[in-house]
Amino acid sequence: MLLYVVGLVAPWIVYRWYKDRKRVPNKAEKYVYITGCDSGFGNLLARHLDKLGYNVIAGCYTEKGAEELKQLSSDRLATFRLDVTDSESVRQTAASINTLVGEKGLWAVVNNAGVALPSGPTDWLNIDDYRGMLAVNLCGVIDVTLSVLPLVKKARGRVVNVASVFGRCSPFGGPYCVSKYGVESFNDSLRLNMAPFGIKVACIEPGFFRTNVTDVEAMHNNMRRLWDRLPQDVKDDYGPGFLRESLDMLDQRFKMLTDSNLMKVVGCMEHAVSAVYPRTRYSAGWDAKIFWLPVSYMPTFIMDRLFRRNSPPLRPISAK
Ligand SMILES: NC(=O)c1ccc[n+]([C@@H]2O[C@H](COP(=O)([O-])OP(=O)(O)OC[C@H]3O[C@@H](n4cnc5c(N)ncnc54)[C@H](OP(=O)(O)O)[C@@H]3O)[C@@H](O)[C@H]2O)c1
Repeated sequence: MLLYVVGLVAPWIVYRWYKDRKRVPNKAEKYVYITGCDSGFGNLLARHLDKLGYNVIAGCYTEKGAEELKQLSSDRLATFRLDVTDSESVRQTAASINTLVGEKGLWAVVNNAGVALPSGPTDWLNIDDYRGMLAVNLCGVIDVTLSVLPLVKKARGRVVNVASVFGRCSPFGGPYCVSKYGVESFNDSLRLNMAPFGIKVACIEPGFFRTNVTDVEAMHNNMRRLWDRLPQDVKDDYGPGFLRESLDMLDQRFKMLTDSNLMKVVGCMEHAVSAVYPRTRYSAGWDAKIFWLPVSYMPTFIMDRLFRRNSPPLRPISAK
């Protein structure tokens, strides 16, 4: 029996390995547009693809980010100031890309720009907190994609969307998971709709990695700011020790889970851009593979129990 299983699995692994290794030709003629290149995954991907010989078009949120990236890359790499929440900025960048790529079209767009704050329990937040993040993480992805889709069609290229394991499960409140679920949904409908045009669509779902998005000090400041603005009755519902316990738990979890090897994610992005047979989904990081994804397939009551057990306890003032 074991031999049968090995006999079936081994050829499948070899076949998959062989398929994974094949890369598209003529990198020097291919243009790749990446958003959010000031720091983190976007910055590293821009430099990595530049080294591999692609023509990288890097959208940077700040002038400083664009200048620093330029200094670290070849003359091939072009930078543009891009705010994905501003449709005019998105449209202008698309127009410049159109001029740059000409008849070749755009080989790939990587929707990477994103923010993770404010985050906290749902009743600590207001609708503007949601609007602000959805504007970057979800509407930004949609706007940027639509702005260059005709150019991607021309090249029969790719769209790569950076979601998260939190597009699969929601262990905490606030707009981050909402935005990433939205990216997953947009990604899936786009993949189906664009397949007849020869466009491939891939979704990257990283676990926890050490970047600005997971900066613990920024997270602490965010939690303190949200707590400070709460009305007293809501603070009483949670109890006076809740904030401290939340911050301690956050420190503990981040220390345990955060991976500093950003190449694990950038390698997936590069594969999605350059492989002849890109995957539809990439889960990057061990925490994604062995914890978050299996958990996301569990029955809701088990998932809820797991997440509630790992939340700080409430000690409401009225219960004293
Ligand atoms: N790190 C993780 O553990 C993790 C896990 C899962 C998914 N992700 C996702 O990975 C993506 C990249 O994040 P990262 O971890 O590399 O963090 P990061 O270093 O903060 O990168 C995010 C980039 O987006 C830029 N950005 C922010 N607002 C923007 C806007 N309105 N328009 C254009 N660009 C904007 C940021 O610019 P500034 O630096 O100038 O603000 C930054 O360059 C995000 O979509 C994030 O949600 C990260």
